[in-house]
Parts: sequence; C-alpha cells; structure tokens
Amino acid sequence: MDAIALLKQDHQVVKQLLEELAESTTRAVKKRQELLQKIHVNLKAHTTIEEEIFYPAFKAAGKKDEEKMYYEALEEHRAAEDLVLPDLLNTDPSTEQFSGRAKVLKELIEHHVEEEEGDMFKDAKKLLSKEELQDLGARMEARKAELLAELKAAA
Ligand SMILES: [Fe+2]
Ligand SMILES: [Fe+2]
Repeated sequence: MDAIALLKQDHQVVKQLLEELAESTTRAVKKRQELLQKIHVNLKAHTTIEEEIFYPAFKAAGKKDEEKMYYEALEEHRAAEDLVLPDLLNTDPSTEQFSGRAKVLKELIEHHVEEEEGDMFKDAKKLLSKEELQDLGARMEARKAELLAELKAAA
C-alpha cells in the first residue's frame, strides 16, 4: 500500500473510534474505557510512523512551506497526545468532564486530519514519486505492526 493510502486508512479508523467515544454517555463506563484504549493504541502507532518515517521524508523533499507544515503537524500531535489524551486517560468516564474532553480530542484530531489530507498529502504526491510513496508505505506498514504489538502488550 502506498504511504498516503495507509495513513488515510488509519485516519478513518481513529475518526470512527472518536466518533463513537463522543457519542457515548456517562453511563457507558466500560465502553468508554475500551474505546479510549483503542484510540490510544491506534493514535500512538499512527503518529509514530508519521514522525519517524513520513514527515521527515516530506520535509526533506520540500522547501520552506513544507518545513512549516512539518512543525505545525508535530505541535498538533503534541497537543493531542501529550496534553489532551493523558488528561482524558486520567478522567473518570462516568463524568461530563470526560465527555467534554473526549469532544475536544475529537475536534483536535479532525482538524489535524483535514490539514494532512487537504494540504500535506496533496503536496507530498507532487514532491514524492510513486516509487518513493510505495517504499515509505512498506516501511510504515512494517513499523506499525511492530508498534501495535508493543503497545498492545503494554496495555
Ligand atoms: Fe495522520
Ligand atoms: Fe498526523
């Protein structure tokens, strides 16, 4: 699978999980915990392959604009993963505070995905050859399998 198709597939999975989480109620404690765990694992694997493999290749192939996109995307990952997600993991799922934080995480990720798919990936298709995108995709797929195994074992 080429790099962009792989990343877009991940986006669909995480967006769907976030959708379900945002629609869940304060009574669905068990369901909320399970969804949050899945989001955690899938998001971490996804952002890691982007940061280790895709983003550096994108930045290296581009110029100033790509460098700007690169740093903005990294900050969005940081906001979601180092700030909002850890908060959510420490929030009681039977509260409306959890509902509010889940909604903020969903909006953050949706915004980030829109920018990646709408700007970065379109740009990447122009900057990188078909072969390069295939090669990046293969490397990310292998790394993702490794990460998912590690993350699930740690969960
Ligand atoms: Fe992404
Ligand atoms: Fe990303």
